[in-house]
Amino acid sequence: MTIASFAFELIARQGRARAGVIHTPHGPILTPIFAPVGTQATVKAVTPAQLEEHGVTLVLSNTYHLYLRPGAELIAELGGLHRFMSWPHPILTDSGGFQVFSLSENRRVDDEGVTFRSHIDGSLHRLTPEIAIEVQEKLGADIIMAFDECAPPYDRAYNERALERTHRWAERCLKAKTRSDQALFGIVQGGIFLDLREQSARFLTGLGFPGYAIGGLSVGETKAEMHAVLELVDGLLPEDKPRYLMGVGTPQDIINGILRGVDMFDCVLPTRLARHHAAMTRTGRLNMMNAAYARDSRPIDPECTCYTCRHFTRAYLRHLIVAREMLAATLLSIHNITTLITLVSEARSAILAGRFEQFAAEFFAAQETLPS
Ligand code: GUN
Ligand code: ZN
Repeated sequence: MTIASFAFELIARQGRARAGVIHTPHGPILTPIFAPVGTQATVKAVTPAQLEEHGVTLVLSNTYHLYLRPGAELIAELGGLHRFMSWPHPILTDSGGFQVFSLSENRRVDDEGVTFRSHIDGSLHRLTPEIAIEVQEKLGADIIMAFDECAPPYDRAYNERALERTHRWAERCLKAKTRSDQALFGIVQGGIFLDLREQSARFLTGLGFPGYAIGGLSVGETKAEMHAVLELVDGLLPEDKPRYLMGVGTPQDIINGILRGVDMFDCVLPTRLARHHAAMTRTGRLNMMNAAYARDSRPIDPECTCYTCRHFTRAYLRHLIVAREMLAATLLSIHNITTLITLVSEARSAILAGRFEQFAAEFFAAQETLPS
C-alpha cells in the first residue's frame, strides 16, 4: 500500500550519514531529526509555542499512558491528539510495547498480547497488536509504531522467543491497520545478537513498512554493541525508508547514530535532566544547582541561541532551582531541547555540504574539553 500523505525523500548522503525529508499530513520533517518526548500529551514544562520557537517539528507521545489516562476515545472525541494537545505539527506515538514492559507491574505476556496492571491505579488491562493499532488510530498520530516486545539485551533464549512474537505481532499490526493517513513503522529487535538482528531486519523489510525503527538499544548494552547492531542493520534496511533509533539519547549517541545511517531519534533525556537541574551542552552536562554558579553572569552556553541563553544568567537559573521555582524546569528544558535540535540541524547542514566527517570529528574532539 502506498501512502499518499507520507513519503521519505533521501536528499544527500555522506558515508552512511543521510539527510532527507519525511513528508507527513502535518508537514515535513527534516532529517536527521530529534523528537522530544511528550509522554502524557505534553512535553513536560514546555508549551507548544515554545517548542515551535525552538525548531521542534516532531513530538513523540505514548499509547500506553494515553490509553490508561485520559483514554483514546476521549481524545478521539475531542478531535484527536494534535488538537487535544494543540500541536499542529507531526506526532509519533509509540505502541505501548516498550512501556508495558518497563512500567507496569505483574505483566504477563503470551503470543496473543500482554496483560498488565496499570502503574496508576493497579487496574487490569490487556494490549494486543490489534488494540495497540486501534488506540493509535484513535489518537491519530502521523507515525505509529508496531506493537513489539523488547527483551533484555543479553538473554539469547528470551530474545529468540520475543523476536518470533514481535514478528507475528508486526504482521498483525499491518493487518489491523485501517487508516491510510498514518505511517506504521516496524521495529527491529534481537538484543545484541547480530544474527537475530539480521533475521529481524530481513523479515520486517519483507513486510514492506514505510519506515523502520531499531528498538531494544540503549537498554544496558555497551556502546560498541549498539554500534555493531546499527552498522549491521544500516546495511540491511531499504535506503529509501527512514530509520529511527528509539529512546536515544545523548549528543554523543545521536552523532554516532547519524554516522551509522540513522535518521530519527527520540529521548526523554533533555526534559528529564532539566527537571534534575542539569543543563546539556554538546560537550557535557552542567549541574545548575552548583554553588559555583551563584554569581555567574554568563548564559548556560554562550554559543546557544535558545530563549534561556539569550535572556538568563547561570546565577538566575541557580536561584530558581534553589528557590524551587517551576520556571527552572521550563528554562532548562527549553535549553536542553535546543541543544539537541541545533545538533541535528547542524549535522544535516554538514551532510548537505559534504562536510559531515569533519563535523563529527570536531564534535568528538571537543568532548575532551569540558566547559566550566
Ligand atoms: N523505546 C525505546 N526502545 C523501544 C523499543 O524497543 N520498542 C518500543 N516500542 N519503544 C521503544
Ligand atoms: Zn540555551
